[in-house]
Amino acid sequence: MRTLITGGTLVGPLGATPTEILVDGETVTALFVPGSLPEDLRGSLRDGPDSSVDRVIDATGKYVIPGGVDVHTHMELPFGGTSASDTFATGTAAAAWGGTTTIIDFAVQRTGEVVEESLAAWHAKAEGQCAIDYGFHMIIGGVDDQALKAMDYLVANEGISSFKLFMAYPGVFYSDDGQILRAMQRAAESGAMVMMHAENGIAIDVLAAQALARGGTGPVHHGYTRPPELEGEATNRAAVLARVAGNCPLYFVHMSASEALAVVSAARGAGHNVFAETCPQYLYLSLEEHLGAPGFEGAKYVASPPLRTNTASHHDDLWRGLRTDDLAVVSTDHCPFCFRDQKELGRGDFTRIPNGIGTVEHRIDLVYQGVASGRLSLPRWVETCATTPARMFGLYPRKGVVAPGSDADIVIYDPAASTTISASTHHMNLDYSAWEGFQVAGKVDTVLSRGTVVVAGGEFHGRAGHGRYLRRGLSQYLR
Ligand code: URP
Ligand code: ZN
Ligand code: ZN
Ligand code: ZN
Repeated sequence: MRTLITGGTLVGPLGATPTEILVDGETVTALFVPGSLPEDLRGSLRDGPDSSVDRVIDATGKYVIPGGVDVHTHMELPFGGTSASDTFATGTAAAAWGGTTTIIDFAVQRTGEVVEESLAAWHAKAEGQCAIDYGFHMIIGGVDDQALKAMDYLVANEGISSFKLFMAYPGVFYSDDGQILRAMQRAAESGAMVMMHAENGIAIDVLAAQALARGGTGPVHHGYTRPPELEGEATNRAAVLARVAGNCPLYFVHMSASEALAVVSAARGAGHNVFAETCPQYLYLSLEEHLGAPGFEGAKYVASPPLRTNTASHHDDLWRGLRTDDLAVVSTDHCPFCFRDQKELGRGDFTRIPNGIGTVEHRIDLVYQGVASGRLSLPRWVETCATTPARMFGLYPRKGVVAPGSDADIVIYDPAASTTISASTHHMNLDYSAWEGFQVAGKVDTVLSRGTVVVAGGEFHGRAGHGRYLRRGLSQYLR
């Protein structure tokens, strides 16, 4: 199957250029400056598909970008007595609808579990289910000698080169500073990336218990008891530990606060292997307007770290971080729980509200709003949503770029179209949208995953099982 994508403007980190793109099978095989197509291909432009090309996709007036790479999802994550509502099947289909063609999900090892067995269980959930390609990070919830050894095994044999640790959630995923240091030393040796959930969970648990004792039981107290200072403190502590561990590569997930970003800026300024991502919810939503919504509505917006106050400059600072590369990636931390049957578990006690927001379908659109509003350049949109995530986690140049030899994961994006986000039209398995009524300039038009059209003309053409497991190499983003 040969496909010619014609008339569009190819956008990558280096800029935007009118380009004709030839796809053969699952792979991009050639790029042409308009007007320079070889004679055999030129015929197909005049007369439509012929012996040289099976399919011509007209991208006139549209952007052509590499498929989105969302490096932070939690399909079917067990959490707080329930499980994230998107399966690998529903979540990856929703991702494809939104122009994301690769996810990296978090496999989970808990204290006492054997890492390799936990990983096998995650493979069993995903295999044959995914509509797009997928990889795994490994959450190490119980750092001990066996788990440390398993980290090396996963890097060498399983295509897993990144490990998430938690300074939050004592008793669940939490690692103490000694465990963190040991895992970082291991990662510094192997070149693996440590991904950090940086919030001081011990202090947060004290504040949460005090709030409940005072009768502060509603969702907004989730925000009050996880102040930005405790994200900044944990971020600094992790950065220091990584340095002591031998400059272990360190990537902060879901960064939400100016205090934390300042730590990353300083560490990067000093030349350390420190990186960070943020998520759309931290760029747009707030403690007052969303988490503090009347009644139990705020439960829809409970995630950790929490949405931050709009009386400080968190949103502006995060957008600036995206421009300066102190924030290198936008991921979603997609972790959906239905309002009716799942968020409900925490009515009367905010600490029991399952943590997470579902956004995997909307990341490309939401970050594009930064372009539409002049906060972000067009190339930077692609870089933060596709190219850098692929490089950061060892998938480049197979993913994250439209270039000869790359997988033909391609999104055709229509900047002239617009949509409004709603639970009534989204494709995530989620009974509400944190983005209800959000007006989006621009729209995903057509999506190819490894050369197969999976979304076009407002229809889904993908299938569970098309997506393949991606064995990843080491990060390609180190200093
Ligand atoms: O609230 C969140 N972020 N839920 C998912 C788990 C995590 O910490 O990433
Ligand atoms: Zn986390
Ligand atoms: Zn997460
Ligand atoms: Zn449900």
